[in-house]
Amino acid sequence: MCGIVGYWGPNEPKKVILSGLRRLEYRGYDSTGVAIFDQKELKVFRSPGKLVSLEEKIKNNHFSGPAGIGHTRWATHGEPNEKNAHPHKVDSIAIVHNGIIENYVQIRQKLIQEGAKLSSDTDSELVAHLLVKEIKKGSDILKATLNVIPQLHGAYSILVINEKEPDTLLAFKNGTPMLVGLGQKEVVIASDVQAIIEHTNKIVYLEDGEIVLSHKSDAQFFDIKGKKISKDIHEINWTTAMAEKAGFNHFMEKEIYEQPRALGQTMAEHIDHKTKHVVLKNLGLTDAELLNFNRIQLIACGSAWHAALCAKYFLESLAKIPCDIDIASEFRYRSPILEKTTLFVTVSQSGETADTLACLRFAKKAGLKILSICNVQHSSIDREANARIYTNAGPEIGVCSTKAFTAQIVALQLLALHLARVKNTLNGEQISDLVSGLLALPSQVEVCLNHDKWFKDAAQTLAKYKGFLYLGRGALYPIALEGALKLKEITYLHAEGFASGELKHGPIALVDKDMAIIAMCPKDELYEKNISNIEEVRARGGQIIAIGTEADEHLKNLSQYYLAIPKAISMANPILASIPVQLLSYHLACELNRDVDKPRNLAKSVTVE
Ligand code: M6R
Repeated sequence: MCGIVGYWGPNEPKKVILSGLRRLEYRGYDSTGVAIFDQKELKVFRSPGKLVSLEEKIKNNHFSGPAGIGHTRWATHGEPNEKNAHPHKVDSIAIVHNGIIENYVQIRQKLIQEGAKLSSDTDSELVAHLLVKEIKKGSDILKATLNVIPQLHGAYSILVINEKEPDTLLAFKNGTPMLVGLGQKEVVIASDVQAIIEHTNKIVYLEDGEIVLSHKSDAQFFDIKGKKISKDIHEINWTTAMAEKAGFNHFMEKEIYEQPRALGQTMAEHIDHKTKHVVLKNLGLTDAELLNFNRIQLIACGSAWHAALCAKYFLESLAKIPCDIDIASEFRYRSPILEKTTLFVTVSQSGETADTLACLRFAKKAGLKILSICNVQHSSIDREANARIYTNAGPEIGVCSTKAFTAQIVALQLLALHLARVKNTLNGEQISDLVSGLLALPSQVEVCLNHDKWFKDAAQTLAKYKGFLYLGRGALYPIALEGALKLKEITYLHAEGFASGELKHGPIALVDKDMAIIAMCPKDELYEKNISNIEEVRARGGQIIAIGTEADEHLKNLSQYYLAIPKAISMANPILASIPVQLLSYHLACELNRDVDKPRNLAKSVTVE
């Protein structure tokens, strides 16, 4: 979850590293630090809190060396204070680390017995001590790394800089990402493409057990035995402009507004606009292979899990294929029955979520085919899957997932329609009608974005509620869960999502006049049932904020506030209803002065289990 960046090259390392850390700050922001060469001396500066405090600390420092490393932390072991901030320097070695060293207790005890002087509570510092120990025995930095790797259990990406070799950067990884950007006479090594694209679009993705040793701009790659290996260089098509705020106040706000385009891009690649059929050209699974699957298992975390829950309704009703959904952190520990006739689908924006990746590996080992629904091309999940559908939503920087979430739903709906054609559960005309309905989404989402002003104006009043309950039925139930998650994560207010019909089995006890009820009630086959549930809540004094289809006077009369979404095919409703739900969270968070893009305790990419 932490952000790592290292640089060697002609530009000022301090500038490059701080700019890289700014782009990576969404990964964690408990503390930051840099180790940069000044002449031949490696100077370390660290600061608790966000990057601004480190920037302030070193604003007058000039560093004359060619290289440095930096880190922005999401704390796992040890409080987020200065001594636990990275880099950790021991003798001539400084390291930055993302991940968890699981056997750190044993390593720590052994090092203490051997007389090592530890200066932090972290698992990370121990790696620097282990490397120094090897160097003292006469190893060079590569040999030392090869000897240390077998001693480490857990997931990690580690970047090392060495005072004795100012032109050398070394990195290695297991489980969490590490990328090497190869520029014109410069090298950028980072945990995320965002820190590299400013300098080059030529990227090498390090695999588990591999090491990169970069001397000046010459990066060489080695396997776990120290054998030199050659690696593919990927050219990526994201630009720095895509990761800027572009005049919006927050990334989240920008990303909410990007949804019409993101949804259009997700569909563009997969729809034949002439026939209005779904064509998953690059899926990586033939129709014959797809026919062999009699079940789908979806795996995801957080918002991606909600997108998967929503997709179940369409995969089962359109493609008539049984569908199970699991939270990735739970799946492996419940002894699941894995059958090769099950298509295993991972859903992840980042493609780096540790629990989802671990499930992918677990299922792959059991011989299952893996289909990845992912936003970040060449991410670990994307690389390890057998088949893929990209969401094409562009970089999502705000910790709160918005455009990636709605793009995941639409990508999964396209999968459902593709399977429906292959399995002949819908005819061509039915499919093209539904595809036409989905193609209307970008303009319908534009209409929903018009509620922005209302939420902005109403935020002060809405902030007075003591809690928020989100209600939905069918494919809108996962949107109720998503709405509550969005609100919790960026406003820190109490919110819960329920299937509307479940409320009377307990949670209705929470309802009184201080409780806001966000009721999703579009004109679909479940409309009447939803209305009954709204009446039940009204009878107990709950304040209804209803999301309904167009000018629904009846629903309007039952509600304190009414927000219309356009009339659409029912497949579109979960996506359309997501927009007001996102806007509500965003404006409440602004009203409460929360750090919208960097909410407390969170990180964008959860690369630890
Ligand atoms: O990158 P992923 O889609 O795998 O991330 C999964 C969750 O961590 C993510 O959706 C998280 O719940 C978001 N912060 C929600 O807004």
